[in-house]
Amino acid sequence: MWGFPLFPEQASTVAGQIDLLYFALVGLSLIFAGILPFVVLYLIVRYHRSMKADRSNPINSSLKLELTWSIIPFILSMGVFFWSTFLFFQINADPDDPLEIYVIGKQWMWHLQHPNGKRENNELHVPVGQPIKLIMTSQDVIHSFYIPAFRLKKDVVPGRYTTMWFEPTKTGEYHLFCAEYCGTEHSAMIGRVVVLPLPDYQRWLTTEEPAILPDGSTISTGVSSDSGGSMAEIGAQVFQQQGCVSCHRTDSAARAPVLNNIFGKPTSLASGETLTVDEEYLRESILRPQAKITVGYGPIMPTFEGQLTEDQVLQLIAYIKSLSDVDANEENQ
Ligand code: CUA
Repeated sequence: MWGFPLFPEQASTVAGQIDLLYFALVGLSLIFAGILPFVVLYLIVRYHRSMKADRSNPINSSLKLELTWSIIPFILSMGVFFWSTFLFFQINADPDDPLEIYVIGKQWMWHLQHPNGKRENNELHVPVGQPIKLIMTSQDVIHSFYIPAFRLKKDVVPGRYTTMWFEPTKTGEYHLFCAEYCGTEHSAMIGRVVVLPLPDYQRWLTTEEPAILPDGSTISTGVSSDSGGSMAEIGAQVFQQQGCVSCHRTDSAARAPVLNNIFGKPTSLASGETLTVDEEYLRESILRPQAKITVGYGPIMPTFEGQLTEDQVLQLIAYIKSLSDVDANEENQ
């Protein structure tokens, strides 16, 4: 802006709108803060004891004046309220069919995992022009995932998942910060978001070649793909190793709910409640199985609290999600 970078680039679909709201708020504040002191100063001088002024008919009330100074600020503040509420909902509503990436915050780094199993640390590679959804949790304390160029920030909280979505509009590299004080090296918990053209992103996902930006410059992908398969495939292995499969079977001997095609669907609980199966519910059911019992089953599942890493919980969830994807596709065919 004006050749002087007062603001970070606007690199997501919501960045421009958030800036507009910000400038409107600053503008409104400037108008009032700019006018009021001068009015006060003027009145101090105009009606100073030493000044000649007509004081014969003091005004006790003026309906017109009072209505004016009530209604105008009311309209302005309601305008700001509805405007920002609209933006808030837009930012928080999940987009259709986003690319999901899993984020784990820990003292003091960001660990990211793509659905195909590719992992990276303190770097997030994403394709331009695609909605991306981050499913985030922390391994220790509260962190906050902050990308100024996207005008987005969300707390990353231990023990639960928070989500955030964005759609990058420009290729390039952008700052990634932790925006919640999380200990000694909080200020070093930084990284970058690399936005690539879609073909480059797909190549990056499957190779370790440096990515080439449209301007011809190359950027190192900076990671090794240590993946032993996609997240869902690793999740399937965890599912076997932890013995989940001995109860969650599709045959009639199953003592536990079949997990095929449950993700994103409503499920009934023994308590009479109904809820939609999402990441948060799966996480709770893995770590604290007694919290919500599916109707028709007994509270017999052991807890896996403390026995699985955050990575493994995410992989299990990716596996269970993949069971739903398969069924959904089969139904469509
Ligand atoms: Cu993590 Cu500050």
